[in-house]
Amino acid sequence: MPRPATLAPFSPRARVPSVPRPAVLAPRLPGCEHASVPASPAAAPGRHPVDVTDPGLAGVIDWFAAEARELPWRATRDPYAIWVAEVMSAQTTVTRAADAWTRWMVRWPDVPTLAAASLAEVLAQWQGLGYPRRARDLHRSARIVAVSGWPGELTELPGVGAYVAAAIRCFAHEQAVVPIDVNVRRVLARRFPGGVDTSGDAWRAGQALMEFGQRVCRARPDCDVCPVSAGCAGPDSAHAAAAAAAPRRRQARFEGSLRQRRGRLLREVLHHGGMVAARADVEAAEGLIADGLLRRDGAWLRPPR
Ligand code: ADE
Repeated sequence: MPRPATLAPFSPRARVPSVPRPAVLAPRLPGCEHASVPASPAAAPGRHPVDVTDPGLAGVIDWFAAEARELPWRATRDPYAIWVAEVMSAQTTVTRAADAWTRWMVRWPDVPTLAAASLAEVLAQWQGLGYPRRARDLHRSARIVAVSGWPGELTELPGVGAYVAAAIRCFAHEQAVVPIDVNVRRVLARRFPGGVDTSGDAWRAGQALMEFGQRVCRARPDCDVCPVSAGCAGPDSAHAAAAAAAPRRRQARFEGSLRQRRGRLLREVLHHGGMVAARADVEAAEGLIADGLLRRDGAWLRPPR
């Protein structure tokens, strides 16, 4: 199994290093055969070697070449590593996800090692990232892949939705699929309302659109520094307004919430090896048991087997 090329400490401001893409590609998923960008120095993250015909997209990629943060998963094309990165990044900051990803990949560098771990170990390692059901699903899915191989449709795996499936196809297999999260959706609506062809440089286009949406074309955009403002429908365009309105879900308050109590109880049980009374917080305990994150043992709560 290929390992991530670099496990250097995360530095949020550093530019993407000018390294060639990893020489060893992970096995492709069924149905993912496609012409990939050749492994040559020209395919380094800072350049767009293959024709990107859309000048707007070329502008975003050029911005990315100059401004990209160094994220550790950008040095790999291993689908497992990309998968872990995307699940971790879904609801946490990039900095936190990058540190957690680096530690995770040292401990469980591939599907078989994760599949062999216990759920309790996985949940303990996930501490601090929140939403432990995501870790449970990742672990379940790793066990499925370890036994049966990658499914034809990635979304068949527990916890793998359209976004994560597209991210794996784009960032591991370099297919011309754009993973559309809330930031990318906004960029597309404002600057590329007619769609965008990323086939000339799918990996870089996907990364660039994502980071551009996170840092420039934000909900309150930084149009003064935008290199592709010419031709932009602008933040108030009808398309953009619809895109901004559609997927928005406000996060509920954490302080004092059931989510916070569940997190606290889970942490306690994992760290005390199970000697926590089931009556400590009945509502939180019931929810965690129903989700398969804890089990009841008489009057005690225990980590899952
Ligand atoms: N590049 C690929 N996936 C990413 C993510 N989730 N956040 C930031 N940059 C990324």
